[in-house]
Amino acid sequence: MKGRRLREGILLELDYTNVLETAVPGHGIPKIAFDKAAESSKHVVGDIQRAHSSGTLAFGDLPSDEKALKVVTDFAASHSYPNVLLLGIGGSALGPAALDAAFGRPNSGKRLIVLDNIDPDFIQDSLDSIAAGDTIVNVIAKSGVTAETMATFAAVRKWMIHAIGEAKARERFVVTTDPEKGDLLAIARQENYPAFVIPPNVGGRFSVLTPVGTLPAALMGFNVEALMAGARKAADQARRPFFENPALAAAFIEFVLERERAKRILVLFPYSQPLWKFAFWFKQLWGESLGKKMDRRGREVYYGQTPTAALGVTDQHSQLQLFIEGPNDKAFLFWDVKEFRNRLPIRHPFLKFDSMAYLEHKTMADLFRAEKRATEIALTEAGRPNATITVDRISEEALGELIMFSQYLTAYAGEFYDINAFDQPGVEYGKKLTFAMMDRPGFADYSRKIEQARQHGRAIIK
Ligand code: PA5
Repeated sequence: MKGRRLREGILLELDYTNVLETAVPGHGIPKIAFDKAAESSKHVVGDIQRAHSSGTLAFGDLPSDEKALKVVTDFAASHSYPNVLLLGIGGSALGPAALDAAFGRPNSGKRLIVLDNIDPDFIQDSLDSIAAGDTIVNVIAKSGVTAETMATFAAVRKWMIHAIGEAKARERFVVTTDPEKGDLLAIARQENYPAFVIPPNVGGRFSVLTPVGTLPAALMGFNVEALMAGARKAADQARRPFFENPALAAAFIEFVLERERAKRILVLFPYSQPLWKFAFWFKQLWGESLGKKMDRRGREVYYGQTPTAALGVTDQHSQLQLFIEGPNDKAFLFWDVKEFRNRLPIRHPFLKFDSMAYLEHKTMADLFRAEKRATEIALTEAGRPNATITVDRISEEALGELIMFSQYLTAYAGEFYDINAFDQPGVEYGKKLTFAMMDRPGFADYSRKIEQARQHGRAIIK
């Protein structure tokens, strides 16, 4: 293994220097383990590729579906509105929100509003902040029945009809859902709403490169072709041998750190404001995919590494003290960018003050970079294993790479754990209890569970 950068000359790279045993003795991974993993993990790539070829898993093939993308871009070109109001939750909201955080500009004349919570005040305040006449509404639910999204849809439909009348309101809704089943699809057919498709073999949290993400992104004017080009590149990279495959190597690293070094928490640490929401998208991907009670052999395992997020540099003045001196139970994954759109030279007239003079002739980018490096060194010195994913700059292409990289990273981690990374029985169970609590017919079995919980009574202190 020459050098520690896995590959030069491409957008995305993994620097794993600080997870090596030599960097963090007692908490890292010996170099030899990487060489062994390069041999023993060959089946991991093969297993996921076989799932792609057999049609059971499709996330890696999405960027090659040019036809699906063209339908999206054509629709966006003929439906230009200042506001894009997105109704969805979980995998049906976090991806588009991450893209908007990366590329949305306050002065672009376009605004994405994501209603992914049902706090009634949040919904009303959001609706009050925009004009219905300037708004297109994208209702997104793969299942087509999610309580939160269906309830928000009802409120937003009423708001739109009240503002522009029923006939015109009908032209402002577009849905994204399963191609064959679910009530949202039935409603779209009944109301003549355009309907975009989430392929059945793409799970909710793996769906950002379907119209779940591409439609809101195109409506916002983002370059979805470049997003897909970046994703294609990362999908190719994810099929390469271990030492040319950051997704596979990172999956191995996190698996070993969690299982053998007891790093039960994964801190996602972007040194990039535009990637802050990307960390939230990643949290769902990692948490829902790997947090599993059973492995594939039917054994109770209770696996999962808890993802949490910290923002560079903001969290240096918040969580970093805990990270450096608190329990050594965390692995760190930095997300870094090489080039900023602005460097912002620091010039000011107060040179007689020490606290300012040293900043003169530096740039904000220099300071940002120095602080990231300082954090990395401090964590490493304290024996906290940390790796860095770097992209050249924040662009649609780079985000496409990061998304596809993260999806493969998660899928490969699932293979290392030998669990099903693509289901979410815990989430489904919660959805059913909600239906029962709200008296939806057909959920009587779950009503009994709620009754049992009620009988336990409450423990309250006032
Ligand atoms: O990954 C998943 O499948 C879930 O987290 C879903 O994205 C989430 O529950 C929302 O489901 P739906 O799109 O059916 O409303």
